[in-house]
Amino acid sequence: VGGICTVIQTKAKITVDEWGENYVMIGPYFEHNVKTQVEMFTPQNPAIKKAMDILILNGCQVYFGRWLIEGNPYVLLFDIHSAAWKLDKWKGEFWNACGVGLPSGDRETNDALIFGSLTAWFIEQLTDELQGKKNIIVNFHEWLAGTGLILSRFKKLPIATIFTTHATLLGRYLCAANIDFYNNLDKFNVDKEAGERQIYHRYCIERASVHCAHVFTTVSQITAIEAEHMLKRKADVVTPNGLNVKKFSAMHEFQNLHSMYKARIQEFVRGHFYGHLDFNLEKTLFFFIAGRYEFSNKGVDIFLEALSRLNFLLQVHKNDVTVIVFFIMPAKTNNFNVETLKGQAVRKQLWDTAHTVKEKFGKKLYEALLKGEIPDMSKILDRDDLTIMKRAIYATQRQTLPPVTTHNMSDDSTDPILSNIRRIGLFNNRTDRIKVVLHPEFLSSTSPLLPLDYEEFIRGCHLGVFPSYYEPWGYTPAECTVMGIPSVTTNLSGFGCFMQDHVADPDAYGIYIVDRRFRSLDESCNQLTQFMYRFCQQTRRQRIIQRNRTERLSELLDWRYLGRYYMHARHLGLSRAFPNKFKMEPIAPPRTEGFRYPRPPSVPPSPSVSLHSSPHHSEGEDEDDDDERYDEDEEAEKDRKNIKSPFAPELVLEGERKQH
Ligand code: UDP
Ligand code: G6P
Repeated sequence: VGGICTVIQTKAKITVDEWGENYVMIGPYFEHNVKTQVEMFTPQNPAIKKAMDILILNGCQVYFGRWLIEGNPYVLLFDIHSAAWKLDKWKGEFWNACGVGLPSGDRETNDALIFGSLTAWFIEQLTDELQGKKNIIVNFHEWLAGTGLILSRFKKLPIATIFTTHATLLGRYLCAANIDFYNNLDKFNVDKEAGERQIYHRYCIERASVHCAHVFTTVSQITAIEAEHMLKRKADVVTPNGLNVKKFSAMHEFQNLHSMYKARIQEFVRGHFYGHLDFNLEKTLFFFIAGRYEFSNKGVDIFLEALSRLNFLLQVHKNDVTVIVFFIMPAKTNNFNVETLKGQAVRKQLWDTAHTVKEKFGKKLYEALLKGEIPDMSKILDRDDLTIMKRAIYATQRQTLPPVTTHNMSDDSTDPILSNIRRIGLFNNRTDRIKVVLHPEFLSSTSPLLPLDYEEFIRGCHLGVFPSYYEPWGYTPAECTVMGIPSVTTNLSGFGCFMQDHVADPDAYGIYIVDRRFRSLDESCNQLTQFMYRFCQQTRRQRIIQRNRTERLSELLDWRYLGRYYMHARHLGLSRAFPNKFKMEPIAPPRTEGFRYPRPPSVPPSPSVSLHSSPHHSEGEDEDDDDERYDEDEEAEKDRKNIKSPFAPELVLEGERKQH
C-alpha cells in the first residue's frame, strides 16, 4: 500500500529493460489481486521450474506468471497460508539462525517469517540447480521481506543481497508519538524505545536484515541519516524513488488535461455545495492532501492550522478567491453520507431540469423561425416551465451547511481531522474562504460521488499540500510534479531534500519547501500559510507559467535517470558477494551530480515582482488566458534552451549506454 507499492510497480519497467527474462519479482499470493493483475503460466526457465516444483511437492502453493503492469515483469508468488503448518518449525530455525523469537500473537510478523522462509528455500533450490552458472542478486525490500535475507545468509547461499529500507520502524513510531525526532537522533536508546513500543522483535528483524546485507540502501538522504542512528549502519547507496514519466507530443497537453479534470471537480463542487454556491467557481482553487492516514507524520496537523490562518488572511484582505481543500486519506467508514449523495442528486436534477426546459425552448424557437418569426422571448416559456424551474430552485435550499466529510465516519467524534476541524471552526460557512471536504477513501473512477481516479484528480487540482514531518520519500508531491501541478513539501521529506539539492529556486518551479527542521512549529506553520497565501494571489496566467515550469522538472524524477542508483547497488552487491568474479567497476558518478536547475531566466511567477511594465503583467489576463498559454509555451521553450539540463532524456540514455 501507498508509496512502497508505487516504487515496486513503477521500477519494474526499467528493470525489465535491463534484465529481460532474468528479472523475477517475488511476493505473497493474494487471490483477489492475482485474479485481476496476473497472467499465470508455467515458467519456461527450467531452473526456476525445478525449484518451484520442489516447494510444490512439499505441500506449498507457488505460482508463476506475468504481472500485468508496465514492463510486464515475471512474478513468483508464495501462498503463505499453504505453508502455515510449518510456522513452528521455521520459528525454531529462525531462532537458531539469529536468536530472534517471534510472539505468537503477531500475525503480520509470523506471515513475514513464512514468506521469508519460503523465499530462502526457493533460492536455495535455485542456486543448487544453477551450480554457479548464473549469478543471483536479490534485492529485499523492507523488514517484512528481511527474514528471507537473514535466512539466505545463515544458509550461506551463493547470492548477492541488497536490503532496501523505505523507512525505519522506529522512526515512524517515534515521529507519530510527536517526539522531537531529528534533534535527538543520536540520543535514543533504540532497544529500549523498540521494547516500549512492543515492536522489539520486528525491530530486530529490520536491524539484522540491514547488517546481513552485502549492500544496504535507503530511498533518501534523510532516511540514510535516520537509519544510521536507528539501525546502526551507514547506507551504501541512496536509491531515490522515480516515476515513469510520459511526455505528451503537444507540450501544453498537460495544461488541457488540467482544464478538463478541473471541470469534473467543479461538477462535484456544484453538487456538494448546492444552495451555498455564492462563490465564483472561476476564482476557486482546489488544494489537496492525500496518502495514508498518519495525522501528524503526514503534517495534517500543521496543514489544518495553516488553513485556519489562511482563512483569516483571505477574509481580512477581502480576497475574492475561494479555496476548496480535499483530504484524501482512508479511514474506517460506513458508506457515503446521505447529505453528500443528496448534493449530487440535487445537482443532477437541476441539470435535467435545465435540459428539459432547453429542449422545449429550442423546439418553440425552431417552429417560430420556420414561420419566419422572431418569437416573443417573454412568452416562449409557459407557466409549467416556470413551475418546474422554481421547484428545482426550491430543492436547492438547505438547512444545513455543506458537509465537511463525504462518508459516515466510524469514529466521528475521535477522528483527528474532524476533531481539529471542529476546533478551528472550518464548517463550510458562507463567510469562510476556505472550504473543506474530507474524502476518507482513496479515489476511484467508479465512485458515484467523485468519479475520477487519483491521477485525474491531481491533474484537476491547483496545489498539492504535503507538509509531512515523517516522509522518507513522499511520492505524492513527486506525482504532482510530473503532472505539472505545483506542490508543498518539507525539508524533512526525501523528495523535498532531493529537490533542494537539484533546483536552485524551487519556489519558482512550484515546489514550495516548508522548513520543518530548523524552525519552530509555529514558524513552519506561518511559512506554510504564506506559501498558500502567495499562491492564492497569483493570477491565472501566473499559475499557467508556474505549471509549465513545474512540469519541466519531471525529467529529474524519471526512472530512466534514477534507475542508475539501483544499478549501482547491484554492481556493488556482485563485487562484494563474488569478489573474485566481479571487480567493482568504478561507475562514473552520475553526470548529474552537483547539477542544479538554475532560476528560470524568464519572468518570475510571483505577483510581487510582476511589474506593470512587464509584458506578463496580469491585468485582465484572465479573459484571454488561452492565447497567453501559447505565449507561455514559447517562453517555456526559451527556458528549455537556456537551461541545459543533464537530465534530458537523450543524455540519460547516452549515459546508460556507456555504463552497459
Ligand atoms: N494514492 C493512491 N490513491 C489515492 C491517493 C494516493 O493510489 O487516492 C497513492 C499515491 O499515488 C502515492 C501513494 O498513494 O503513490 C502515497 O505515497 P507516499 O510516498 O506519498 O506516502 P507513503 O504511503 O509512502 O507514506
Ligand atoms: C490550462 C488550460 C487553460 C485554462 C487554465 C486554467 O492552462 O490550458 O485553457 O484557462 O488551465 O488555469 P487555472 O489555474 O485557473 O485552473
